[in-house]
Amino acid sequence: MKKITDSIYYVGVNDFSKHKFEGLWPLPKGVTYNSYLVVDDQVCLCDTVEVEFFPQFLDNIREVIGDRPIDYLIIHHMEPDHSGSIPLLKQYYPNVKIVGNKKTFGMMGGFYGITPGDVEVKDGDTLSLGRHELQFVMIPMVHWPETMLTLDTTTHTAFTGDAFGCFGALHGGVLDDDIDVKHYWLEMIRYYSNIVGRYGTPVQNALKKLAGVQLDYLCTTHGPVWHKYLGEVVSRYDKMSRYETEPGLVIAYGTMYGNTAKMAEVIAEAASQAGLQNICLYNLSKTHYSNVLRDMFRYKGVILGAPTYNNSIFPPMEHLLSAIANRDMKDHVIGWFGSYSWAGKAVGIIGKYNEEHFHFEPVGEPVEMKQAMNEEVRQKCVALGQAMAKRLLEEK
Ligand code: FEO
Repeated sequence: MKKITDSIYYVGVNDFSKHKFEGLWPLPKGVTYNSYLVVDDQVCLCDTVEVEFFPQFLDNIREVIGDRPIDYLIIHHMEPDHSGSIPLLKQYYPNVKIVGNKKTFGMMGGFYGITPGDVEVKDGDTLSLGRHELQFVMIPMVHWPETMLTLDTTTHTAFTGDAFGCFGALHGGVLDDDIDVKHYWLEMIRYYSNIVGRYGTPVQNALKKLAGVQLDYLCTTHGPVWHKYLGEVVSRYDKMSRYETEPGLVIAYGTMYGNTAKMAEVIAEAASQAGLQNICLYNLSKTHYSNVLRDMFRYKGVILGAPTYNNSIFPPMEHLLSAIANRDMKDHVIGWFGSYSWAGKAVGIIGKYNEEHFHFEPVGEPVEMKQAMNEEVRQKCVALGQAMAKRLLEEK
């Protein structure tokens, strides 16, 4: 049994099985679907878990409350990793009153054919469980339109849905006081950049609503419960949602036979020799673009390179370009390069993406290579790496 306070319990589950979250994002360290029980005169469950974990979820609930009924189920977010067990839960607890907002109930009808409308709440509404006084706060578009959070003003606990979440399963403990949290920081940035990254302004709006509220525990739907590191987590989410970056460089490339890879290596070496220390070099055929997005939320510089493929661009780079365009990132400088065998397309496509979608500040001259490296191309790659390093080091 995992206790957060004397009357709040963790009843979520680990997922060490799924390869890709949302069918897209790799889970090398697993993920959790968090749910919490507030045990008072009335018993309140916050969120459910993905449906395939329902048996474990039910065991966790019964371990805490035995045969007591659940009076309320608060749904903060309708994405099925949290709402998937609602239909089964209703079978086991037919009298549970579901708490949500108008949009929550609209989605519940669409996803599950359930139209309870039991307790429809608006921003600022309250609910008493006995000792625990709950207040509901709407935080739309973090990262779905129905998202809301609940403040337990008695224990200064916030049940935040996906906000402040991170990838990474739990290894026994749930409260950050009890575990080594260093494994979670990079997975928090990857979670944010992959899942929530497009919605910086709504996250900023949510943070403004929490400003001045006394908070001792952040009970998110993914990852540890934040208590000791609560301030750091809020500050990290603030920084990420303002798209604030540090001087550093992400170089991501596609390559079929190693020729474009050689360009990337020369660029990285030149940037390093020019004094830049934070450089991440990724081959997109090996490293999932999820990690590139993560590091673009950390570092200001990005250099992208790919071969031409079927009169277009190497497909893994196309995925990355589209994902960057979809996130409306700010505060970046960009360079690009590419190669071709007989007709060049890739370099122009990257440039067009920047012009039409990214609007990042271009640095250096794009480098285009025919077939394989020669001295002229090498010098151009060196110049691009040096120009990027110089631009980034100006920031320090
Ligand atoms: Fe964890 Fe947006 O669901």
